[in-house]
Amino acid sequence: MCGIVAYIGPKDAYPILIKGLKRLEYRGYDSAGIALLNGSLNVFKAKGKVSELENLVKNADLSGNVGIAHTRWATHGEPNDVNAHPHYSQSKNIALIHNGIIENYASLRKELEARGYTFQSSTDTEVLTNLIEDIQINEEVDLLEAVRIALNQVIGAYAIVVLARDDKDTLIAARKGSPLVIGIGIDEYFVASDASPIIEYTKNVVYLDNEEVALIRRNKDLKIKTIRNVEKTPYIQKLEMNLDALEKGGYEHFMLKEIYEQPHSIRDSMRGRLHPELGTISLGGIIDYEQKLVNAAKITIVACGTSWHAGLVGEYLIEDLARIPVEVEYASEFRYRNPIISEKDIIIAISQSGETADTLAAIELAKSKGATILGICNVVGSSISRATHAGIYTHAGPEIGVASTKAFTAQVTVLTLMALRLAQLKGTIPKTKFLHLIHELGLIPDKVEQTLKGSKKVIEIAEKFKNVRNFLYLGRGYNFPVALEGALKLKEISYIHAEGYPAAEMKHGPIALIDEEMPVVVIATKRGTYEKVVSNIQEVKARKGIVIAIVTKGDVAVKGMADYTIEIPETEEMLVPLLATIPLQKLSYHIAVMRGCNVDQPRNLAKSVTVE
Ligand code: G6P
Repeated sequence: MCGIVAYIGPKDAYPILIKGLKRLEYRGYDSAGIALLNGSLNVFKAKGKVSELENLVKNADLSGNVGIAHTRWATHGEPNDVNAHPHYSQSKNIALIHNGIIENYASLRKELEARGYTFQSSTDTEVLTNLIEDIQINEEVDLLEAVRIALNQVIGAYAIVVLARDDKDTLIAARKGSPLVIGIGIDEYFVASDASPIIEYTKNVVYLDNEEVALIRRNKDLKIKTIRNVEKTPYIQKLEMNLDALEKGGYEHFMLKEIYEQPHSIRDSMRGRLHPELGTISLGGIIDYEQKLVNAAKITIVACGTSWHAGLVGEYLIEDLARIPVEVEYASEFRYRNPIISEKDIIIAISQSGETADTLAAIELAKSKGATILGICNVVGSSISRATHAGIYTHAGPEIGVASTKAFTAQVTVLTLMALRLAQLKGTIPKTKFLHLIHELGLIPDKVEQTLKGSKKVIEIAEKFKNVRNFLYLGRGYNFPVALEGALKLKEISYIHAEGYPAAEMKHGPIALIDEEMPVVVIATKRGTYEKVVSNIQEVKARKGIVIAIVTKGDVAVKGMADYTIEIPETEEMLVPLLATIPLQKLSYHIAVMRGCNVDQPRNLAKSVTVE
């Protein structure tokens, strides 16, 4: 969702900014724009992809060693050239880019209109730009002060970068809610929504905190203060990410690369934590909270999207192994439904990006009630990882494809480790079972590797069903969240309507949809409720539905009934989600590719949802 890049230094800004925007494309957007300062302040904007912007500026003067650039995911006003950022102030002295939503923009706009301002766009961002200009003129303050005063009048979320025509040596950046990171190079600074546009130039970064404003000046030290005017010392951190992780590495799409990275990413999630040879699990990130977890009367997991599905697997795991009651909540519901939370509660927030606005708000709410908040995040240094009391990073590496794949299996891996560790501490699991499970968990990366081998069957199924309008996904127990995730993956990237259901619930509704045209993906792996699922398959077949079954290697019964089967290696029931998810990711991928969809950047979706 909205991407910000800015540069100030000795080099030409344009190539750095365009490359940066491309690195941020994965976040999801529908228009792009750039402002360059070279005596005059020139703004170029175009609806559509960054490549449209490149076409637009082909013959323009693109000189200038300071500039700001933006990809916009429309909130206020449709995606078009006018609503794209940067926005000029009325005098065209200021250009501003913004990620977030200014909630009181309508009243601010009215006040500014009364003072003679006119607006070109329907955006909240143009209102903020003119508000800053108005303050600068009327209160006779410099740009930094004008931004600071303006932000005190703003309700909502923002990450902004401001550039003024009469000062080629300064950028002002600020954030609340939406993320912003400043890269510190030699005689140059970069600003971006995340570290991906910065990594190839410098590893030294400062993450701005909420309500902080940064004064970024050519050849001068970085200065940070809060919007209440309290000076802050910039805390410089070293990025651990490397550039290879941000490139496709020979794969046609990031999503495919990320699907195939899973043996590696799951291993990374377990590295230093799972010790089958010692018979232990260590989770350094939450070590100080382990006793609290063990004694917890209840754990609440909050998350959105795919992370919420991982949370559901987590619920089954923690309840099953550690016997602690778990509730899994959509963060967007939790935050507005007056939940019963006290200082006795433990909240686990799960988020790949660590920036999801609803999850962040759920954390803040629970924190205000005194609860302990633990995080399971992928992006190191992200807002959620900093807002929580403690947490465990998933270490899946950067996930660029909008549809989450390796982040999901990494989250499930971490939740499995956590459930097992709590069970061990609580004594709710016999030692032999614990040792057996950690041994099996250690084998998962190799089994994922086997699952990934050979795509013939998946491609054949994709070819057959690429043009259907609906899919149903069914699973029970640990495979119910897998069904939900499989359906989500398909709709996200192929735009085919798909629903995930607990297999037994089918008879309470979705069964009405089943006919000879309806493909039903059933996760029918051995153990657990296998026999029950076999009955559900018969119910589908009795109504002439088409069954695509994910089965355990060597299965005979389901093979005899289903139209198509895909085998996965045998493992313990509670570890099956780590394997069964893989063919469903591949099926969605191949269907989407065959339908000509933009797999890595599906329409209307954003990777990092920084607005509610
Ligand atoms: C967006 C992404 C999903 C993701 C969800 C939650 O909708 O497109 O892939 O699952 O946000 O994101 P998070 O970063 O909090 O896991």
